[in-house]
Amino acid sequence: MDLSSLVLCVLFEVLAVNCQEEAQERIVGGYAPVPHSIKYIVSIQTTQRQHLCGGSLINKYWVITAAHCNIGVNKMMIVAGDYSLTIYEGTEQEILPQLLFPHPEYNPTTTNNDIMLVKLRAPVYLNSYVSIALLPRQGASIAVGRLCRVSGWGYTSPNGGQIPSTLRTVMLPIVSTQQCNSSGSFGGSITENMLCAGFSTGGKDACQGDSGGPLVCEGRVYGLVSWGRGCADAQFPGVYTAVSKFRRWIDNTIFSYYSRCKND
Ligand SMILES: *[C@@H]1O[C@H](CO)[C@@H](O)[C@H](O)[C@H]1NC(C)=O
Repeated sequence: MDLSSLVLCVLFEVLAVNCQEEAQERIVGGYAPVPHSIKYIVSIQTTQRQHLCGGSLINKYWVITAAHCNIGVNKMMIVAGDYSLTIYEGTEQEILPQLLFPHPEYNPTTTNNDIMLVKLRAPVYLNSYVSIALLPRQGASIAVGRLCRVSGWGYTSPNGGQIPSTLRTVMLPIVSTQQCNSSGSFGGSITENMLCAGFSTGGKDACQGDSGGPLVCEGRVYGLVSWGRGCADAQFPGVYTAVSKFRRWIDNTIFSYYSRCKND
């Protein structure tokens, strides 16, 4: 999905046809979890406090999200410990990013390598509202049919409609790459760096505004909400960045950051 249209859709809620087509990543068919029970999720916002994307804390200084959520380091703010975006709960921690590391081979046309690391300026404070998500090992695979949890502050209906202010979550089964890449579905657009999840009957999915947020399987962030066709369509499952394909890149990027600092 193209970044400028994503930003336009979310910021101005434009309901033009081309925008509706793209403006499709919030949790559809899900429910509101117990407040603050999903502690690793963050809201990625503009400095004007407009929610744009989800992300996950992987340690006190780093957030993982999708590369298509890259609006520029000076326009971005990270909110941890959030539940309702509109009500101040006293649990929120707002932190500015210091540096963004979009994957160097991210391709906005094919959405391949849709992953980005965000280095925070200050550490988040870990408490009963904020915790860290675990990542899968390099190359780890997740079985087809395994139920995974996706969460976010995205649209709750395929045609946009109301933007819910509280976090939503839904469980979805992993769909085989073969099925997802078939002519009856995404017809060849699925790469090895992507995962698909959704019910064959549709009805439950991530949607616009959930982008970059976590798909958690077996307690680890196996997927990042990346793209799709509409939301909750039976023919088209949601497509996620396959985090296990990037574990080495994640570790190397963080390690290089600190090695470089040492030499400064
Ligand atoms: C999806 O299909 C395309 C076209 O047939 C193919 O080039 C690509 O390798 C497939 N993806 C995977 C992950 O097998």
